[in-house]
Amino acid sequence: MRKHFFSGIQPSGRLHIGNYLGAIKQWIGLQDQYAPIFGIVDYHAITVPYEPGRMPMRVLDAAAAYLAAGVDPEKSILMVQSHVPEHTELAWVLNCLTPMGRLSRIPTFKDKVRQTPGQVSMGLFDYPVLMAADILLYKSEIVPVGEDQIPHLEFTREIARKFNTTFGDTFPEPAEVLGKGAKLLGLDGEFKMSKSLDNCIYLDDTDEELRKKIATAKTDPARKRRDDPGDPDICNIFSYHKIFSTEEEQSRCAEGCRTAGIGCVECKRILLERMIEMIAPLREKREEYLAEPDHIMEVLADGADRARAIARETMGEVRERMGLAPRER
Ligand code: TRP
Repeated sequence: MRKHFFSGIQPSGRLHIGNYLGAIKQWIGLQDQYAPIFGIVDYHAITVPYEPGRMPMRVLDAAAAYLAAGVDPEKSILMVQSHVPEHTELAWVLNCLTPMGRLSRIPTFKDKVRQTPGQVSMGLFDYPVLMAADILLYKSEIVPVGEDQIPHLEFTREIARKFNTTFGDTFPEPAEVLGKGAKLLGLDGEFKMSKSLDNCIYLDDTDEELRKKIATAKTDPARKRRDDPGDPDICNIFSYHKIFSTEEEQSRCAEGCRTAGIGCVECKRILLERMIEMIAPLREKREEYLAEPDHIMEVLADGADRARAIARETMGEVRERMGLAPRER
């Protein structure tokens, strides 16, 4: 039988190609070997201020994006975290094993405290415990995540160990699987893609938006005129070529750049064509899904039922080990 693992998706709407290459693409590839649970983690999303009116759309958006990218509801479970109450139930249990001091040392928490000092809720403080519950509820042995999530995985292993030594062997200690996630920079050629920096290429960008973004994207800063030779190894556009273009195009552009044989405009034109080839079908599929929200809701409802069947079993074991009264019927 294929083993389960859980990976969480923040319902934050638009996905950029950094998300896609770093994480999603990798998840899709794990669907044959495992029976993954992909959770849209809405209870995590409410740990910071948000607009309630927009949440339903954010959840739909996330589901559509992941379905379009290739999450297959036959092989995987796509669900909404708050539809399966066992997530918060297990989080409560794990809370009782977690020293407060341990949570206050988690780097993502410390960052948030620094960024928004007046808005630190208990939920935000407890974020890693809920995440550990997500992962352990399905006895995950691996968790595909981005590098920024490593401290959360370390915490998850600690808490699994603590549960096991206190109440008896129950949970595997999950290992993170990091996306090869091409360390892609944003259009500024300086920082990682980030919504707040406005330097992203989104999976739902139109062809025209892509064209504008690539046209103004940073290239080798030393190449000022068409006749100046450039250095592809320091050109951000060339780092995109390495992901989107064929080998032949890559060497043609690299060679052309070094010898000033082709200009940045031509090099960008080639890239744009390849980029559109990859992104346009994703965008179109996502739109097709979004046109049928009822279908998405059905996929999510079915996912919640299937996830819950697994989650209930784990909680049954947890309750028994902990000496909590059995729930008759
Ligand atoms: N914290 C993760 C992120 O921001 C999302 C997440 C929540 C998650 N629960 C999880 C990821 C469980 C992996 C496993 O990306």
